[in-house]
Amino acid sequence: MNPADAVRAAVAAVADPELRRPIGDLDMVRDIAVDAGRATVGIVLTIVGCPAATKIESDVRAAAASVPGVTDVVVDVGVMTPSERKALTEKLRDGRAPRQMPFGPDSLTRVILVSSGKGGVGKSTVTANLAAALAAQGLAVGLVDADVHGFSIPGLLGIPAGTQPTRIDDLMLPPVAHGVKTISIGMFLRDGEAVVAWRGPMLHRTVQQFLTDVYFGDLDILLIDMPPGTGDIAISIGQLLPHAEVLVVTTPQAAASEVAIRSGLVARQTGQRVIGVVENMGPFTLPDGTVMDLFGTGGGAAVADALSESETGAVPLLASIPLSPALRVGGDAGTPIVLTDRTDAAAEAIRALARTLAAHGRGLAGRSLPLTLG
Ligand SMILES: Nc1ncnc2c1ncn2[C@@H]1O[C@H](COP(=O)(O)OP(=O)(O)O)[C@@H](O)[C@H]1O
Ligand SMILES: [Mg+2]
Repeated sequence: MNPADAVRAAVAAVADPELRRPIGDLDMVRDIAVDAGRATVGIVLTIVGCPAATKIESDVRAAAASVPGVTDVVVDVGVMTPSERKALTEKLRDGRAPRQMPFGPDSLTRVILVSSGKGGVGKSTVTANLAAALAAQGLAVGLVDADVHGFSIPGLLGIPAGTQPTRIDDLMLPPVAHGVKTISIGMFLRDGEAVVAWRGPMLHRTVQQFLTDVYFGDLDILLIDMPPGTGDIAISIGQLLPHAEVLVVTTPQAAASEVAIRSGLVARQTGQRVIGVVENMGPFTLPDGTVMDLFGTGGGAAVADALSESETGAVPLLASIPLSPALRVGGDAGTPIVLTDRTDAAAEAIRALARTLAAHGRGLAGRSLPLTLG
């Protein structure tokens, strides 16, 4: 191989940190020359001031320098023309028309909604930790924060305030935290801005945009942190993702389990399949070994029982997560404790849930057919 070709091969393999694909595949490599040991490498970035620019440039420099005979590297950084960028976004869309949702029934990505009847049961905390645990197991994981009014995912994953998705024309690249590609309305609001006044159509558009205009690439699992209850967003997602799987989160308390059952039943009416129940805020063990059932017992089993029907099959209680100060502290700090705490029982219960979900695969059998709403 001549030296320029060797440098081209090395440079082409450098991954774009945001798009997570080799820059050669993304048509970002331009002219390359090698002259008396000096390699001159031309690359183009998607946009001016691309946040990944420094990383790409230094990776390209290192890749070129690793080629035998190269003693010096000059990297020439340019920017794509609008038509080059258009070709790139088309490539990333993989033949899908703009505004077409990639998570339809034929998609290889499992879509799992995390739902609850009411707020404050730990749904977002569980979702953030579950996403991080799945990513740590090597899966490609995306997370959509669909709780537009009460978004909390950026904080739970430690995504700094002000972090925004990078835009390539009308495609948005989701920030990646703890290996999880994440999108939340919180990334689009200015300080103190609120979405209190938003109603159905605007909420629907927001969720639809998250699912269509965000470039997640090939995912194994897309988790969706749902708003509590069965409001406008749940209905929109029911229409957009009728084939999704649903995890219902509840506390051990009877009052929470009653509304959780209702949210599971409503999801099922859109055709979604309830794959299991997660009981959170279970018995707390004091340092002396005393166990305290702060929120009572039996809620998770009651929800699983109520959602198990002869036509749809049994709905298992997939996890019981105890109350855990460490889980809360990790959430406040933006560090999912599934990644850092090997002893905490709540962390272990969520890691076990991740293993169960990864092992169980997408079970098509038992998927319910949409019921006709009377
Ligand atoms: N197992 C748990 N042990 C202790 N605190 C928890 C647990 N799960 C959640 N929390 C805390 O409870 C509060 C509500 O959790 P959150 O995940 O925001 O609930 P939701 O998304 O259902 O509204 C948060 O302060 C969180 O840190
Ligand atoms: Mg929440």
